[in-house]
This record gives sequence, C-alpha cells and structure tokens, in this order.
Amino acid sequence: MSNDYTPPRDLLKDHRILVTGAGDGLGRAVARAAAAHGATVILVGRTPAKLEQVYDQIEADGSPQPAILPLNFDGAAEQEYQELAGIIDREFGSLQGLVHCAAQLKLLSRIDDYDLETWNKILQVNLTAPFILTQACLPLLRASDQASVIFTSDALGRIGKAYWGAYAVAKFGIEGLMQVLADELESEGKIRVNAIDPGPLRTKLRNTAYPGEDPGLLSAPESTAPAYLRLLGGDGKGIHGQSISLR
Ligand SMILES: NC(=O)c1ccc[n+]([C@@H]2O[C@H](COP(=O)([O-])OP(=O)(O)OC[C@H]3O[C@@H](n4cnc5c(N)ncnc54)[C@H](OP(=O)(O)O)[C@@H]3O)[C@@H](O)[C@H]2O)c1
Repeated sequence: MSNDYTPPRDLLKDHRILVTGAGDGLGRAVARAAAAHGATVILVGRTPAKLEQVYDQIEADGSPQPAILPLNFDGAAEQEYQELAGIIDREFGSLQGLVHCAAQLKLLSRIDDYDLETWNKILQVNLTAPFILTQACLPLLRASDQASVIFTSDALGRIGKAYWGAYAVAKFGIEGLMQVLADELESEGKIRVNAIDPGPLRTKLRNTAYPGEDPGLLSAPESTAPAYLRLLGGDGKGIHGQSISLR
C-alpha cells in the first residue's frame, strides 16, 4: 500500500475517529486530514495547549467541530481510559475509527546502559497505553457497523536495530498486539485492525533520534495521511491484519 490514494471529500462523513498524539506530528496531520474529509475527530494527547491549537486549525479549515480529551499516557490509571471511553459513549455513542499515533523515544542507548525507569516509561506510553485504550474503546467500535483500528508502527518494530531499546521493543509489541487483535476480531467481520510504518517523517520524534539531520530532506507528516484515510474509510474494506509500510 502507498500514499497514492485520493480520498473523496466526504469519505469520512458521519465517522467519529479518535486520534492519539493529535497535538503534534503525524497525529496532528491525520486528525486534520480526517476532519477535512468529514470526520468528527476526538483529539487525544498529552499537552492541552497543543490540542487546542489543532482544534482551532480544524475549525478554521471549516471541518466538523472536533472534541478534545487530554490524557497523559505516562502515569494515567486504567480508570482514566475507561472514563475517556465513557465520555465518548455519552457524547457520541460509537466510534468508527481509532488511530494510535502517540509515542515517545526519549533516547538512544545500548541495552548495556538502558535504565529501567526509561524502559518502563517507554513501554507504558508506546505499548501498554495503546492496549488499554483499544480495550476500553472496543465496545464503542463494536457499536458501529464498520470500524477501523490503526496502530502506528515502525520498521524498527519489524527488524531490530542497535540502540533503539524500549522504543523498538514496544513497536515489536505493537505488531504483535495488532496481529492478536486482528485474529480475535476476524470472525466478527466488523472491525479492521492494521499497523502502518509511516517511514521517516519531519517530526520532533525523528529529530530526537537524528538531531544533525537536515529536516528539509524528510517528508512532511501530511504526506502519509492518504494511507491512513484509505484504511479509515470504505476503500479500506478487506484490509485486515496487515503490517503496512509506506517507505
Ligand atoms: N517521525 C518518524 O520518522 C517516524 C517513523 C516511524 C514511525 N513513527 C511513529 O509515528 C508516530 C507519530 O510520531 P511523530 O513522528 O509524529 O512524533 P511526534 O511529533 O513527537 O508526536 C508524538 C505525539 O505523541 C504524543 N505523546 C508523547 N508522549 C505522550 C504521553 N505520555 N501521553 C500522551 N501522548 C504522548 C506527543 O504529545 P506532545 O505533543 O504533548 O508531546 C505527540 O503528540 C509514532 O507512533 C512514531 O513511533 C514516526
């Protein structure tokens, strides 16, 4: 699959789509693109001020009014994910899409030196949080005729590479979570589950790993939005349990 997809303007009309990491980078790009194609997006992220900026951009685009639900995946209790799902249930009743973009890198380090506190934090934010949030949202996704869950992965979660530590291990976990969930949901035939490796993008996370790199040589996160939209809309029907690469 590639970004070579031109979504119809009303592709996501009447869709409610939750996007994590919606305040920055890829999550912001996917949220704005989904809204521009008719979706009501629920912006989930860590920094309320960033989510408010994206809210304002979506309103200025003339797209459907979004919702903001801040949640810091580092330290949030299971109950807070349930409360978030409860708010969506009361306000919207169902979800047609769940897009996981939030992630942290923190640092590159040899396993020799990797400290346990950072290891636990990265696994919590990048793997455990997507698990809990997906679990909490499954009843909302089942309440829809068709729904799509997209996990954002990385090539580093498919082939291990030195120094990427807990970030890479969490992405391996994301690939496993996607496959297990896709297999479990297969017989229901309602919820599609896939993982996308978006390739190198001009974002904060990439800059943390490659501070000396010329950002001008990288693709903007907006370039990957069409592939996400394809999976979210009707043209994604039949795509299920796939590890997709946009490189
Ligand atoms: N950029 C690349 O080259 C690349 C390549 C392959 C895969 N990816 C994947 O693409 C996805 C998006 O990354 P990106 O490049 O767009 O990075 P980014 O610009 O750094 O955005 C990461 C997002 O995650 C949010 N986040 C971080 N920690 C959080 C926490 N504790 N609780 C809730 N939200 C948190 C951030 O919120 P704040 O804005 O509040 O910090 C931000 O919105 C990630 O899954 C990443 O692994 C990226």
